[in-house]
Amino acid sequence: MQKVVTGDKLKKTLLSQNYSSLSSFLSLAFILFVTVFYFTDLRYISYVQNIDHNTPTNHTIISLIPEKTRSEKLPFAIGEGNGGCDIFTGEWTRDYTRPIYEEWECPFLEPQLTCIEHGRPEKDYRYWRWQPRGCSLPRFNATLMLETLRGKKMLFVGDSLNRGQFTSLVCLLQGNIPEKDKSMEAVPSGVVFTAKDYNATIEFYWAPFLLESNADDPYKHRVTDRIVRNGSIDTHGENWRGADIIVFNSYIWWISGLRILRGSFEDEVKDLVEIPMEDSYRIAVGSLIKWINKNVDPQKTRVFFTSMSPTHQGSYKWGGASKGNCYNETSMIKGGEFFGAERSLMQVISEELMNTGKAEVPITFLNITQLSSARKDAHTSIYKKQWGPLTDKQLADPMSYADCIHWCLPGLQDIWNELFFSKLFYP
Ligand SMILES: *[C@@H]1O[C@H](CO)[C@@H](O)[C@H](O)[C@H]1NC(C)=O
Ligand SMILES: *[C@@H]1O[C@H](CO)[C@@H](O)[C@H](O)[C@H]1NC(C)=O
Ligand SMILES: *[C@@H]1O[C@H](CO)[C@@H](O)[C@H](O)[C@H]1NC(C)=O
Ligand SMILES: *[C@@H]1O[C@H](CO)[C@@H](O)[C@H](O)[C@H]1NC(C)=O
Ligand SMILES: *[C@@H]1O[C@H](CO)[C@@H](O)[C@H](O)[C@H]1NC(C)=O
Ligand SMILES: *[C@@H]1O[C@H](CO)[C@@H](O)[C@H](O)[C@H]1NC(C)=O
Repeated sequence: MQKVVTGDKLKKTLLSQNYSSLSSFLSLAFILFVTVFYFTDLRYISYVQNIDHNTPTNHTIISLIPEKTRSEKLPFAIGEGNGGCDIFTGEWTRDYTRPIYEEWECPFLEPQLTCIEHGRPEKDYRYWRWQPRGCSLPRFNATLMLETLRGKKMLFVGDSLNRGQFTSLVCLLQGNIPEKDKSMEAVPSGVVFTAKDYNATIEFYWAPFLLESNADDPYKHRVTDRIVRNGSIDTHGENWRGADIIVFNSYIWWISGLRILRGSFEDEVKDLVEIPMEDSYRIAVGSLIKWINKNVDPQKTRVFFTSMSPTHQGSYKWGGASKGNCYNETSMIKGGEFFGAERSLMQVISEELMNTGKAEVPITFLNITQLSSARKDAHTSIYKKQWGPLTDKQLADPMSYADCIHWCLPGLQDIWNELFFSKLFYP
């Protein structure tokens, strides 16, 4: 699931081969050539290879490079993956040892996520684990994760769904940290969790489009006329540099009308265009990849991208009642076919992230869309604090007021973090 050709790794791989018989001039020339050209055109490598008459001319060397680098250790990896087993394909299995923590045990849960506290009558949705087909997930180990984060910074960048995953991770870890050594703080760009004894932070950075937009205030971003500025990845990107582990997401904000701004928000006459959702999403994913290529050191940093979080706003879509939504749903969607997100955007991700060779730094894809699509039972629905507590009138009208986008915690997003844990340590 990862793209693996990286500049430094490529260089290292090539240099580790036996060039002892080269003259020092030739090897210096070789290093310079490779250093200068590996980002621009891989063919130069074969060219340089060919002028080295001590090694046989063999054009297949190019296709061999990814094979070689693939076995190189990624930062934070402590073991091998399951021999190509796709951990995102599998099935939901009953597990009454869940949830891993209780609502009341995690002081950092926002009232937007605590469903039991807000009156959810049944708890079935909490007793599931994910069973990949053909392999098993490692058990989530908070000690290991915290030790790994010692002196480090983990950063979640994206929208409220990513904030949910961030919060879930904090809850999975915080039980291992004494009260006086942990804190959560709101900052202008989002929130920061600090584990003082570990000198570690886990941060959430609000950037729902990744690019600069008029919805960038983490606390007041409900704008109807959304505008996203083309070519602006550095606006937020500047603040992401230096993180050791970064988890990106971006999806839900792209699917309803928005316009792309060319130029700047300061321009008196704004040059705005409306383009298809797929095209605008491609701008964002493409810009992100360029930012990663330029700013991330693959020897030190791991990058993750979480796929679209599905929604359950119309039950007719999965063969339910004509006017229902996720409200009052207590079981999963059977069959595994329902896909609660825009397939065309998954296609964009596949093309940009996976197949094109654009990503020069490994980006680990957390493909949670399909497995979460079954979980119409796992949303916060009406059991949450919205912007204020729901009024009686709103509670009586779940068709309009149920939240079928976000997820109860503990719940589904803990599983996303188990998958994240698995990919971080056993890629
Ligand atoms: C090139 O390398 C590949 C892989 O090592 C090998 O199978 C092939 O025989 C080589 N071709 C030549 C012409 O040396
Ligand atoms: C969790 O990780 C720690 C640190 O690596 C290790 O000592 C411990 O044995 C692990 N626990 C389990 C249950 O695997
Ligand atoms: C804490 O971690 C930061 C990196 O996040 C590092 O620069 C700093 O030196 C560390 N401080 C101590 C006391 O270890
Ligand atoms: C966005 O910027 C890129 C790079 O400058 C450009 O190629 C593209 O045409 C722009 N897209 C729009 C919709 O303006
Ligand atoms: C909720 O679901 C139950 C069982 O599926 C059903 O009996 C009940 O009428 C539903 N309640 C509402 C308000 O739709
Ligand atoms: C993610 O998984 C879905 C189905 O589970 C699959 O159709 C899609 O191609 C996967 N996406 C990528 C980028 O691998």
